[in-house]
Amino acid sequence: MSERDARAMSFGAATGEYERARPGYPDEIVDAVLAGGPSDVLDLGAGTGKLTRALAARGLRVSAVDPDPAMLAALAERSPDIPVAEGTAESIPFPDASFDLVTVAQAWHWVDAPRAFAEVARVLRPGGALALVWNERDERDEWNRRFGEIAERSGAEVYLDAPVEFAVPFADPVTTWVDWTRELSLEQLLDLVRSRSAWLVRDADGRAEMERGIGELLDERVESRDAVSSAVDRWVMPMRTVAFVARRD
Ligand SMILES: C[S@@+](CC[C@H](N)C(=O)[O-])C[C@H]1O[C@@H](n2cnc3c(N)ncnc32)[C@H](O)[C@@H]1O
Repeated sequence: MSERDARAMSFGAATGEYERARPGYPDEIVDAVLAGGPSDVLDLGAGTGKLTRALAARGLRVSAVDPDPAMLAALAERSPDIPVAEGTAESIPFPDASFDLVTVAQAWHWVDAPRAFAEVARVLRPGGALALVWNERDERDEWNRRFGEIAERSGAEVYLDAPVEFAVPFADPVTTWVDWTRELSLEQLLDLVRSRSAWLVRDADGRAEMERGIGELLDERVESRDAVSSAVDRWVMPMRTVAFVARRD
């Protein structure tokens, strides 16, 4: 298995950490994703269901697909009413024209995009939409930048350095950015490190080194009181979330 494939399939080993430490998506982003008024939605690369649950809470018929049975089991445990199926963006286990909207949150950077665009177009009805969504740490913040140096920037963060390209039959995506902050307890901060592919694919020594570096950064942040919020046991992390929504011709 290539390093990239190993990373793409690494998350199921840490569903607990993932669920505890990964953020959900701001309401404004869910609004942007649902702007076309869909009824039948597929959340692709759904993982433990962070976006799936927000979509289902809006009263839509939502199905979830992911290649990793451990991630789907975590989703089903929390949301037994949401139908789940194993599959990939390159091979979606649904008939043609099944959905009005396909969402892919924090996962498109792992797919083979040319094959995935064609496969998503197949399961969408004419006029349906593909929404690609990502959370990233806002690296304009100095602590976030240093966190990224130690814990590595995520696959998503590296991917978003370049423009996100859409292919036929998708065109002219509507782009929505939302800036926000999240507060993490120190346990959540470590869970966040341990839910990321850069940690998951390392050996024990590599993992310990990364955790040591984060511990040192944390000590430094707690000591430099001007730079820290009044609660020294919380890490306030500036975040940015983006949604690209493109209609199928
Ligand atoms: C970082 S998680 C994101 C999960 C969820 N969408 C969220 O927002 O939390 C990436 C997910 O992509 C899935 N994945 C990896 N390769 C994929 C592929 N080729 N097609 C669809 N999903 C894939 C992984 O199994 C994992 O659940």
